[in-house]
Amino acid sequence: SVQQIFTSTTTKSGYTYDDLICLPGHINFGVHDVSLTTRFTRKISLKTPIVSSPMDTVTESDMAIAMALEGGIGVIHTNLSIEAQAEQVARVKKFKAGFIIDPVCVPPTMTLQELEELKSKLGFTGFPVTAGGKMGQPLLGLVTKRDTDFVTNRNTRLSEIMTPVKNLVTVKEGIDLLKANNILQTSKKGKLPIVTESGLLVALVARTDIKKNVEFPNATKDPLNKELLVAAAIGTRPADRERVRALAAAYVDAVIIDSSQGDSVFQHEMIKWIKKEFPQIEVVAGNVVTKQQAKNLIECGADALRVGMGIGSICTTQEVCACGRAQASAVYNVAKLASVYGVPILADGGISSPGHIVKALSLGAGAAMCGSLLAGTSETPGEYFYSEDGKRLKRYRGMGSIDAMKKGSDDRYFGTTSAIKVAQGVSGTVQDKGSIHRYIPYLTQGIRHGMQDIGAKSVEDLQSMLQRGQLRFELRSAAAQREGGVHGLHSFERKLFD
Ligand code: XMP
Repeated sequence: SVQQIFTSTTTKSGYTYDDLICLPGHINFGVHDVSLTTRFTRKISLKTPIVSSPMDTVTESDMAIAMALEGGIGVIHTNLSIEAQAEQVARVKKFKAGFIIDPVCVPPTMTLQELEELKSKLGFTGFPVTAGGKMGQPLLGLVTKRDTDFVTNRNTRLSEIMTPVKNLVTVKEGIDLLKANNILQTSKKGKLPIVTESGLLVALVARTDIKKNVEFPNATKDPLNKELLVAAAIGTRPADRERVRALAAAYVDAVIIDSSQGDSVFQHEMIKWIKKEFPQIEVVAGNVVTKQQAKNLIECGADALRVGMGIGSICTTQEVCACGRAQASAVYNVAKLASVYGVPILADGGISSPGHIVKALSLGAGAAMCGSLLAGTSETPGEYFYSEDGKRLKRYRGMGSIDAMKKGSDDRYFGTTSAIKVAQGVSGTVQDKGSIHRYIPYLTQGIRHGMQDIGAKSVEDLQSMLQRGQLRFELRSAAAQREGGVHGLHSFERKLFD
């Protein structure tokens, strides 16, 4: 059983996901019957056990919105000014499916030439024209392909060719998507601006978006106001208290105290302070890998723990600092302790397949936190570029890499006052994975298949099997690990899903 592997007195080895393999159980249910509902913190549940890492190449508002729509949650990274991070949180909270709440606006003085440049950069064709070219200003008109198609003089100002507001169909704020959709259909227009009583632009609904707008039955939402849930990372400096205040004012649902070694007096004080000042915010503490570290943070009031040290794909912490733990051992041991207190844990890092997530959940994690697995999707920050051999790539870097620390993330590694910045991570690239809206369903379906094979119909089932000693794992020798991967072929192509 799992217990025997991790509590054996004859060996002091640490194991990681690839060292283990789950033995199958009995199946008496369909794969679609498997529920992935789980706990992210004491109070927040998710229908998808996946959390995107607070890294500046992984999670800003687009990613957090997509993750929440797919039933997980995103953690906005903290390599941003306080104002910029709070703004990212606010964008997630203000998101409404189908409504564009921050459409790119243009001023009436812009020339057709400048508009063409903007169009080719952004890839869309219709823009609201507002007095100063910003959101929240008086709406003057709309400029779309129909207005520009036959204009030959590139120096023409938009004020001369736009469709003025008096000829537009607009609606007042507060309208729901269904009504907006009906108005778009009867008016046969492509865009519907939403304005305040006094004519200030607050949002835009686009026909093309409505057509794309699918249902998100798993979305992680506040049951009362239906807003998406979002988390944000913070540090442990005294100045981070200001950050927490700003995030609270933007209605953040959870904060994650970002530290590679969480059991510090700085973090203890931070947890206690947040729980006292902002009891409505869930606090995820960490990172930890031992029971003692976990106990200390739980006793300070942590609502969840983040587990993993030096095992991320971009990490060099174990090499540089000699500290850390093999991830399966860390997850199993911390989860065992935390479950006594009813505190969920996040298995953070080292996840490169749906199978790793199944193993993390089987070892007691509530959810998996992923960086590299989700990096390279279209919702991550950064632009795609092409490698010499024609591969479409995005950057992915550790928050302890020199690149990232130069932008401010050194607090995670207690580097604040040092003259020398010691890297604990690397900077690299990953291949394009398409949209989160295709990728997360692939991952969750893979997880469901794994749980079905084990014979667990829900995450709760899986974990009660773990606690009752009914989950069976075996260790894999190096040869067994080779056997469990693709082998013996001259060449092959790997397509992940269709
Ligand atoms: P994966 O394997 O999902 O790991 O790419 C993501 C997790 O790695 C942690 N992280 C780092 N750890 N040096 C480290 O030792 C770094 O530079 C670094 N950056 C991120 C973090 O916990 C993240 O969720």
